Amino acid sequence: MVTSSTQTDLDVRFPDLVLRWFRDHGRKDLPWQQDPTPYRVWISEVMLQQTQVATVIPYYERFMNSFADVHALAAAHIDDVLHHWSGLGYYARARNLHKAASIICDDYGGKFPGDFDSVIALPGIGRSTAGAILALSRGEQCAILDGNVKRVLARFYAVDGWPGKMSVAKKLWDFSEQNTPANNVAAYTQAMMDLGATVCTRTRPVCCDCPLAKHCQAHILKRETDFPGKREKRAKPRKEIYMLLIHSDGAIYLERRPPAGIWGGLWSLPEVESFDEITDWCEKTLQVRQFNIEKREEMRHSFTHFDLDIRPVVVQLGNGARAVADTEDRIWYELDSPRQIGIAAPVTELIHKSALD
Ligand code: ADE
Repeated sequence: MVTSSTQTDLDVRFPDLVLRWFRDHGRKDLPWQQDPTPYRVWISEVMLQQTQVATVIPYYERFMNSFADVHALAAAHIDDVLHHWSGLGYYARARNLHKAASIICDDYGGKFPGDFDSVIALPGIGRSTAGAILALSRGEQCAILDGNVKRVLARFYAVDGWPGKMSVAKKLWDFSEQNTPANNVAAYTQAMMDLGATVCTRTRPVCCDCPLAKHCQAHILKRETDFPGKREKRAKPRKEIYMLLIHSDGAIYLERRPPAGIWGGLWSLPEVESFDEITDWCEKTLQVRQFNIEKREEMRHSFTHFDLDIRPVVVQLGNGARAVADTEDRIWYELDSPRQIGIAAPVTELIHKSALD
């Protein structure tokens, strides 16, 4: 940690150094920085929660074209919202956006709430996202602590420990609050994110380009990559499933997943745990007796907490064999004229591969 006398000295200068750097090096042309209303900033911050800027931009543009304001989002069908989210992952974010849009329309007359406590009470908005929305769109003196800012502060003050631990997070929040200026807070907030994303990077920080390097404790100690501290490693569990690509008359059979759990609410392929169950499953669920079954190449999909090994199996039904009809939770997905629905990215990949067979 820096000593208290240097810290006082630095507390005055920290935001100025960051703001000066921002003038020449910060990002100022991101789509959500043009007309930064709370709605536009909110959507961007939620998309950016676990996803890089370059990936988010085309999703953001399409989302804004379809749902230009909170009323349009609240009025949309959840399937349409999930469709716009397909490929971004962490789909609870999209469901929370949709729920929060209804709350904003019902309880706040369609105007994004102005006070921190109301913003943080909305589904899917935590302390850092609430701070970012109010700082970036309304210039309020609110601190943030996303992954990039954690890294900058943990290095600058040489804060030991993994930020997922409450005691470590508290120290970092305190530093973030101390340094957040009363003026120019939008530029400062964007600058801290940009500094973390472009200079104070995870594995190879470019300290020679950093406005804070002279006072950065991790840099002075030549231990930049020791901060922030890492979580103790645990082996990732692995799960194996068979996914059924059931073809009939140019369509594939899809089921809607339950609202909780992975890909909650999205459309997906039916799953079974063992190869031996497939025949039974087809006879019972699809009420068919004649079909061909063929295995395809296994595919791994990694979630944060476990690896999913998907074993795709193509089930070809005879023509005219679609005994079961579409319902709310199962459909025949026409490959020539696909419906606009939310499908998890690896499932889309499997469908496309299987359509080319
Ligand atoms: N990550 C989270 N919010 C961001 C923003 N506004 N700009 C760039 N990266 C971000």
